[in-house]
Amino acid sequence: MKMTKDQMTSGYLTHELRAPLAAIRFALEIFLDKSGTRLTDEDRHILSIAMRNTTKLNLLINDIMELSKIQTGRLSTAPVETDPIKLVRETVEDMLSWVEHAKLNVKITAPDKCPTVFVDQRRTGQSLINLISNAIKFTPTGGLIEVIVETGAGKHEGFVVVSVKDTGCGIAPDDVAKVFGYFVQVGSPEKRSEGTGLGLSLARSMVEIQGGNMWVTSELGKGSKFIFTMPLYTGQKPPPPETDAVLPPGTQPGNTPGAQQFPTGNPAAIPPAGGAPEVPPSK
Ligand SMILES: Nc1ncnc2c1ncn2[C@@H]1O[C@H](COP(=O)(O)OP(=O)(O)OP(=O)(O)O)[C@@H](O)[C@H]1O
Ligand SMILES: [Mg+2]
Repeated sequence: MKMTKDQMTSGYLTHELRAPLAAIRFALEIFLDKSGTRLTDEDRHILSIAMRNTTKLNLLINDIMELSKIQTGRLSTAPVETDPIKLVRETVEDMLSWVEHAKLNVKITAPDKCPTVFVDQRRTGQSLINLISNAIKFTPTGGLIEVIVETGAGKHEGFVVVSVKDTGCGIAPDDVAKVFGYFVQVGSPEKRSEGTGLGLSLARSMVEIQGGNMWVTSELGKGSKFIFTMPLYTGQKPPPPETDAVLPPGTQPGNTPGAQQFPTGNPAAIPPAGGAPEVPPSK
């Protein structure tokens, strides 16, 4: 597959940004370590801001690198037979401290038994993390996040369906169709500053590359439900996509969007590194 000049430049830039960033982080850590008790509280506070922002920048670079891989068709997956309930439980467990810190409640609803799925566990876990981190970010204190696992039926036959449902701010009807677009953020300006608008587009692409779908239903002021599907394990690898064209999430070959599925927003070109706002450290 031929890469465009923009795609090559963004891939190169993100790669070249990582090493100096790691050096900055390392230098800060050594400085903190060596300074011991000589630092004032204010010094430590200033250093902690610098450290926190290196973490944010690192996460942003990772996201842009993933996006670059998706756009150039270089994202590889390693699907294995997976227990979907275990995958969901472990991912939710990993996020418990953040959920508790945000003073939210989380609940998993799953059947006693569920067929196994054929997915890349790291990438699927990351998609779920992106959905749960959004639910945490957009749900006020005291709210509930429910992660539901179901065996697909009807048009979802052959899949396991996972939903992340929250009691948060919800999404306006006009915005619902846009939220999977690259660098798209909607809703309140304060919350926008906590991210880059890449989490959902990456999550959806990861799911689609593995043969699943992702969509959302939402009601402003009441909450949102983000849903994705994972193909059942059949003992056979699914056939490769028919084309190697680079497509935006929501339009991958083999997708059969259901009635509830919303189209993807316009994928933007990758902006120059550093031109995007901060990402939350927890992602
Ligand atoms: N659970 C949710 N409730 C309400 N709005 C949401 C929810 N999830 C996503 N959104 C809206 O969709 C937008 C895009 O989400 P996305 O995860 O792609 O970006 P982000 O969270 O702003 O930044 P990033 O994930 O890159 O750190 C968000 O900015 C928000 O406006
Ligand atoms: Mg997000």
